[in-house]
Amino acid sequence: METTGLSQEPLILAIETSCDETSVAVVRGRQVLSNVISSQIALHKRWGGVVPEAAARAHVEAFLPVLQEALQGADAALEDIEAVAVTNRPGLVGALSVGVTAAKAICYSHKIPLLGISHLEGHLSSILSDEKPIVYPHISLIVSGGHTELVLAMAPGQYRLLGQTLDDAAGEAFDKGARLLGLGYPGGMAIQENAVGGDPLRYKLPKGLSGPTTDFSFSGLKTAMLRLVEREGKGIHIQDACASLQHTIVEVLVERTLLAVDENACEAVAVVGGVSANLALRQRMEEECGRRGIGLWVPPLSLCTDNAAMIGLAALQHFASGRFDDLDLDVYPQDDSLFKNS
Ligand code: KG4
Ligand code: ZN
Repeated sequence: METTGLSQEPLILAIETSCDETSVAVVRGRQVLSNVISSQIALHKRWGGVVPEAAARAHVEAFLPVLQEALQGADAALEDIEAVAVTNRPGLVGALSVGVTAAKAICYSHKIPLLGISHLEGHLSSILSDEKPIVYPHISLIVSGGHTELVLAMAPGQYRLLGQTLDDAAGEAFDKGARLLGLGYPGGMAIQENAVGGDPLRYKLPKGLSGPTTDFSFSGLKTAMLRLVEREGKGIHIQDACASLQHTIVEVLVERTLLAVDENACEAVAVVGGVSANLALRQRMEEECGRRGIGLWVPPLSLCTDNAAMIGLAALQHFASGRFDDLDLDVYPQDDSLFKNS
């Protein structure tokens, strides 16, 4: 069993603009000194989803005020910063470009190193703000609006992909379900709130993919929700429908995470990404990990959905091993490198 034990503690400025959150953070080691998030939810709400060009333009508008607030919050000046970490993959290319260009300008003018970070490694690293040492190896479940992956975290920065969704992400299943039920966008929190007091067994919904597997499929669930809404019409019981949808997603996530734990003889689990904010998921994971006597790490709510602090935390390992990037760093819609060498 290994713990992180990082010795160097540089002051890192971190930038995240991969989707619809403009975020800048300042971290020193595992300490998050500031983490400012400007959300574009209100902007994209009218379209029911993120419009890439609108997202990029909103990042341009929000970036400097968010940077200023993050520096003020950390009581730091740009001159104090020792490196800039920025999400350069995966994500919307136009949105990523705004953050990466800003990061390069800061690095160029202040002669400090640049660290290009994977958004997924950011989510995986969001548990590092926890004071208790992280146990390796552990199984990490990444669940967000764009991702559902089961990952074997062997050591900081060393990951193996064990399974993933074959179609929709878990967050997408929440969002699409909420949309069908007329609960708005993004839907995860709305489903959670409306599920309170609902009967989770009232509507039977499919879990997708039969048999023991560490992959996921949520497209059948989406279709089943559509059929349910068509069948029940105005008579649908919103609380029961939300509770049933949440229950189905949570049970699939818990079941497959525990299978990965067994298959890899791990003694710890991490749940990260926007959907890890879900209270029912956190509670079920706690119950199951408690029953098995294994450790569970979930990020604080502020580090679940997209934020720059997690990018700064991921950058620690890169900085410590001197993995800096050149100023011609590019942006990528996919992440082809994180699991490449495992
Ligand atoms: O990590 P994130 O901010 O963005 C991506 O990288 O995709 O995750 C956003 C997703 C959305 O699908 C949102 O509905 C979901 O996280 N989410 C939740 C909750 N809070 C956010 N899903 C379920 N329950 C929640 N409380
Ligand atoms: Zn994310």
